[in-house]
Amino acid sequence: MAEPKKLFIKTYGCQMNVYDSERMAEALGGQGYVETTTPDDADMILLNTCHIREKAAEKVYSELGRFKGLKAEKPDLKIGVAGCVAQAEGQEIMRRQPLVDLVVGPQSYHRLPEMEAKTRAGEKALDTDFPEEDKFEKLKSRPKAKRGPTAFLTVQEGCDKFCAFCVVPYTRGAEVSRPAARILDEARDLVERGVREITLLGQNVNAYHGAGDGGDWTLARLIWALNDVDGLERIRFTTSHPNDMTDDLIAAHGECEKLMPYLHLPVQAGSDRILKRMNRAHTAESYLRLIERIRAARPDILMSGDFIVGFPEETEEDFQATLDLIEEVKYGYAYSFKYSPRPGTPAAERAQVSPEEADDRLQRLQALITRQQREIQDGMIGRTVNVLFEREGRIAGQMVGKSEYLHAVHVRDAQANTGDIRRVRIVEAGTNSLAGEIVS
Ligand code: 5AD
Ligand code: SF4
Repeated sequence: MAEPKKLFIKTYGCQMNVYDSERMAEALGGQGYVETTTPDDADMILLNTCHIREKAAEKVYSELGRFKGLKAEKPDLKIGVAGCVAQAEGQEIMRRQPLVDLVVGPQSYHRLPEMEAKTRAGEKALDTDFPEEDKFEKLKSRPKAKRGPTAFLTVQEGCDKFCAFCVVPYTRGAEVSRPAARILDEARDLVERGVREITLLGQNVNAYHGAGDGGDWTLARLIWALNDVDGLERIRFTTSHPNDMTDDLIAAHGECEKLMPYLHLPVQAGSDRILKRMNRAHTAESYLRLIERIRAARPDILMSGDFIVGFPEETEEDFQATLDLIEEVKYGYAYSFKYSPRPGTPAAERAQVSPEEADDRLQRLQALITRQQREIQDGMIGRTVNVLFEREGRIAGQMVGKSEYLHAVHVRDAQANTGDIRRVRIVEAGTNSLAGEIVS
């Protein structure tokens, strides 16, 4: 039998890329590839890229440059670029980096096997179409391999919101939801393979409106159906837009047993003037009222968010409004970014804030967020949480898992296995994780 070919995939960016990389590995598995953890022995290298900020794309080009030596040693090595940089730059990638054999956009992954064959025939392969067919359905033939206790499951892709800073509507395309029955099948299959927690993914996940029994399904309905899947213990979803937080979804946070008390709900900025220029279609006030309603349904919910500082025309006063909003919400986690002009998006053409100003604001915002995170983590000491153990820790007998609030929790002498859920009393709060002991 022929030696299996080796595939190295490096994933950048969001969780959807993590999910996509798994699907690509499975698709190429059918071509005789097995995954390897290093580029050094690979027959094919795929970079699954992110285009959301400048540095992400630049990192890809410098990474590609580093493969020059490998390709010189092994002329049969194939190098591919997938993901949003592939979609945005297309042919330009091959022009800028002739080492690249294959460029595939996020909507064409199901065509990878044919594209790989083309590269083996010595040709270059490029596909950045937005094809009509259901990519997920074509990617479905998966091995029944055992899985870890947590998994991502893409339910929706693309975005129609067109925030003025964002490339997603261009690189991932219009919003498309997968049919509910296929998602439920995939969830049941994951559970059979050992998964106990599923995170539903979508660029605008709460805008989900998939076809299903009796017509259109909302995300809340999908979550309720997943709540009935035996063996599945936890449900999460990300990322949501404030304007799609419907009443049924808010209610589910209070009533649905398996839905975890954690919500990633980006607001981006706290100034209404900037929110308008961002084309966010909500105000700071409407966002704050929304959070009040969510907290009324589920008082202990942990909020997380995304922020952009230095958006074009942002004044110190606008920035202060963002800090005020953060003070009011109190985030358990937050991701903050300096605005990065994305070619082709409306905001890229506007008057830019100086990099020094943006740096300074980012630092101040991050200091505030760090303080809030710290307070919330310190506040966990003495509380009992449920921890789903995901892996062994570095110390013998230690296990590491996640609480319902997504805090990483370390437990010494846990006497538990991966996949177990245990009651844990928190005894210590570190910078990035909590430590606790099992409550018998
Ligand atoms: N510059 C900086 N941050 C951005 N994001 C999206 N586009 C940009 C950009 N051009 C951030 C937003 C979004 C997160 C995924 O990335 O905060 O919610
Ligand atoms: Fe981008 Fe999210 Fe805005 Fe859509 S809603 S354009 S993905 S930031």
